[in-house]
Amino acid sequence: MNQFRGQHILSVNQFDRDAIRQIFQVADRMAPYAHRKKRTRVLDGAILGNLFFEASTRTRVSFGTAFNLLGGEVRETAGMATSALSKGESLYDTARVLSSYSDIVAMRHPDAGSVAEFAQGSRVPVINGGDGANEHPTQALLDLYTISKELQFHGDNIEGMHIAMVGDLKHGRTVHSLSKLLSLYKNIRFTLISPKELAMPDSIIDAIDKAGHRYTITEQIEGLVDADICYQTRIQEERFPSQAEANKYRGKFRLNQDIYTRHFQSKTVIMHPLPRDSRADANELDNDLNLNPNLAIFRQVDNGVLIRMALFALTLGVEDIVEKYDCEVQWYSNKQNI
Ligand code: NCD
Repeated sequence: MNQFRGQHILSVNQFDRDAIRQIFQVADRMAPYAHRKKRTRVLDGAILGNLFFEASTRTRVSFGTAFNLLGGEVRETAGMATSALSKGESLYDTARVLSSYSDIVAMRHPDAGSVAEFAQGSRVPVINGGDGANEHPTQALLDLYTISKELQFHGDNIEGMHIAMVGDLKHGRTVHSLSKLLSLYKNIRFTLISPKELAMPDSIIDAIDKAGHRYTITEQIEGLVDADICYQTRIQEERFPSQAEANKYRGKFRLNQDIYTRHFQSKTVIMHPLPRDSRADANELDNDLNLNPNLAIFRQVDNGVLIRMALFALTLGVEDIVEKYDCEVQWYSNKQNI
């Protein structure tokens, strides 16, 4: 049974473990297409409205790429200033208009709750690509998918693992959504590392607590000797009242190879939703980690395409017939060697 057909994807609260399993199974089948071993035309003729009213590189392009890889077309708008929302149009009207041009919509917007409001006016499924500091469900799914693959590689699994989340846990929608998803599993240990002012919201801590997980709140990155995952985040400067206010916290929690060697076990997986702030005064994840085999940040990026392909296939109800529309790749592709 495909519970996703025709449905919006707005929050991780929609998912239970069965749903996650189903998405991951479809995502696994998408790898040959992403690696250019073959193509599919299953979404030939379908149109994605890719509406990004807030800064984005990888989420926007990976939604578009995922749709293209399934054979569909992408129509895009990027930025608030160039959209009719800046002329006072309501989200409802924008949704009525854009859903008449598209078969499905992916959307990002700076206000919490805005994507859900948009979905009320939409006549096609809407996928939340991030609504303010609230949620980022597709990122959480790709993070969880990555965590399960990385832990499997080390002979471990999600249940019983220890994850450290570091940085701006107050405004970071990726850690909000990921914590809620992880709460569906058993016996997880969370170490939440942030300046006090940027602590994880109480509602998320309550969800972790109610689900029976252990958590520690601290301002120290040291002492994580048994962390399986270290999930680093960027100070979300765009959500602060001023740049000066954000600058107080940038660069507070830096991770580099030296800190990693001294404070982590050699199999700790390093994650970050990206973009990492590589400016000298922040440098939260140093380039000297680039050759560390446990740096999973670019594997997260690759997995994002698979997860978004799976969500499109499921919401548009073609998950069982993707392979029926296979065709050959005509060009030489280095990706085939992956
Ligand atoms: C994140 C976001 O936009 O919430 N980026 C992403 O989607 N990969 C994290 C961030 O911007 O820091």
